[in-house]
Amino acid sequence: MADRNFIYIAECSDGSWYTGWTTDLQRRIRVHNSGRGARYTKSRRPVKLIYWEEYPTEKQARSREYEIKQLSRQEKEKLVRAAAGKGKEMSVEQFFDKVLSVRLTEDRRALDIIDQTLLPGTIRRIRLETKEEIWEAIKKLRVRGAPAIGVTAAYGMAVLSEQFEETSFDTFYERFKALKEYLASSRPTAVNLFWALNRMDETALSNREKGVAKVKELLYAEAEAIREEDVAISRNIGEIGFGLLKKLKKDGKPVGIMTHCNAGTLATAKYGTATAPMYTALEQGWAGTDMHVYCDETRPLLQGARLTSFELHSAGITTTLQCDNMASQLMKSGKIDIIFVGCDRVAANGDAANKIGTSGLAILARHYGIPFYVCAPSSTIDLKTATGEQIPIEMREPDEVTQMWYKERMAPEGIEVFNPAFDVTDHSLITGMITEKGLCTDPYGESFREIGLC
Ligand code: MRU
Repeated sequence: MADRNFIYIAECSDGSWYTGWTTDLQRRIRVHNSGRGARYTKSRRPVKLIYWEEYPTEKQARSREYEIKQLSRQEKEKLVRAAAGKGKEMSVEQFFDKVLSVRLTEDRRALDIIDQTLLPGTIRRIRLETKEEIWEAIKKLRVRGAPAIGVTAAYGMAVLSEQFEETSFDTFYERFKALKEYLASSRPTAVNLFWALNRMDETALSNREKGVAKVKELLYAEAEAIREEDVAISRNIGEIGFGLLKKLKKDGKPVGIMTHCNAGTLATAKYGTATAPMYTALEQGWAGTDMHVYCDETRPLLQGARLTSFELHSAGITTTLQCDNMASQLMKSGKIDIIFVGCDRVAANGDAANKIGTSGLAILARHYGIPFYVCAPSSTIDLKTATGEQIPIEMREPDEVTQMWYKERMAPEGIEVFNPAFDVTDHSLITGMITEKGLCTDPYGESFREIGLC
C-alpha cells in the first residue's frame, strides 16, 4: 500500500497518553489495541489508539506531532472529544469506499474500476470507455469476483448502448444484442455475468414501445438497481453468517475462520459474500481481534494473498495468510472453527463452482469436522443447471502457473500445464448455503424452493 502519514494518540497501560507518527495506521491500531505494542517505557505500554489525523506528507505529520506533544493533557482531551468519531479506526464505511470495485464515472460515460491486478502494492482506479476495455478488464481479472463482474457488465451495457446513434428500436437492439454477446464471451463460469446481461436485455425488450431514448435511461436505472441489490444481498448474507459466528464465540477467544480466494468487497459491490459475516461483525461492534481469519493464498492468481489479506488487514481484522497446501495442517491444529467461501455458480442440486482449490478445502473440512459454508447470492444460483457436471469451467493460460509471479520462469519451456480457474464442490460436502433469503441445507433443491428461489 502506498505510504500515508498519520499522527495518533494512544492510551497507555499506566493511563498516560502517547503521541506518535505512522504510515500504517491499521497496523498501529491492531498492534496497540491487542496489547502487543512495544513498551514505550518500562511501565508504559500503549493499549488503545484513541485519536488520529492524516497528512499528505511526513513533514506535515511530523510538525503536527510536535505541536500535539506540546499540548497539556487537558488540551489533548479537548482535541479527542471534539473529534468525536475521528480518533477511531478507519470506519468500515471509509474502508468500503476506498476499495470499491466498480462504479460509474460522474459523467456516466465510462466505468471506474479499481485495477485489482495491481493490488495490494498500487491502488489505482482506471476508466473503461470502450467495449474492448471492459471485455479486457473482465478477462484479465482487473475486475473480478462473480457479483462485481455482473455489475460491471450491467454498467457496461448502459454506458456503451448510450453511445448508439440508432433511433429505431430494432436497429438499436441489433447492436445491443451483439454487444451483449461480446461481453458474455469474456468469462464462462460466473453465472452473474449472464444473469446481469439478461436483466439488461429484458429491460430493453420490455420497454421497446417507449422509444430508444427512454430505453437508454432505463438501462442506467437497471444497472444501478443491480448494484444496489448486490449491496443489500450481501448485507443479508452478512447477518446470517454473523449469527453463526456469534454461536462460535467462546471464552473471549477469537473465532477462527478460513476463506479461499477473494469473495470480499473487491469481488462485489460492498460487503463481499464470504467476508460479509466479518464486516457485519465489525459493524455490530466486534473488534478486529474478535476474529482470526486465515486466508489461503489461492494459486495461481493469488487472490487470497493479494486481495483478501489486503482487505481484511486494512479493515483491522486479525489476518493470517497461508499457502493453499497448509490448510490441512491448520485445520488439524484446531485453529479453524468455520469456513466461508464464495461461489461463481451453484447448480440446482447445490453443487457449487468456486475458485480452484475450494473443493479440496471442503473435503478436508469434512475430514476434520469443520463446518463449511458457501455464501451464495441468489444471482449466483443457476436453477437451469441441474448439477455441477454441467457448469462450464474456465481454463486459463499456462504462464499463470509457470512464470507470472516469479522473477524467472519456474517450469521447463513447453511443459503441459493444467490450469482450471474453478472447481465444483459436491453439495454433500457443504454444511449450508447462505443466501440473502435464508440458510439452505441439503437437499438443496427443496431448500431453494422453501426460500422462494423457484
Ligand atoms: O477468478 P476470480 O478471481 O473471478 O474468482 C473469484 C471467486 O472464485 C470468488 O470466490 C467468487 O467469484 C465469489 S465472489 C463473491
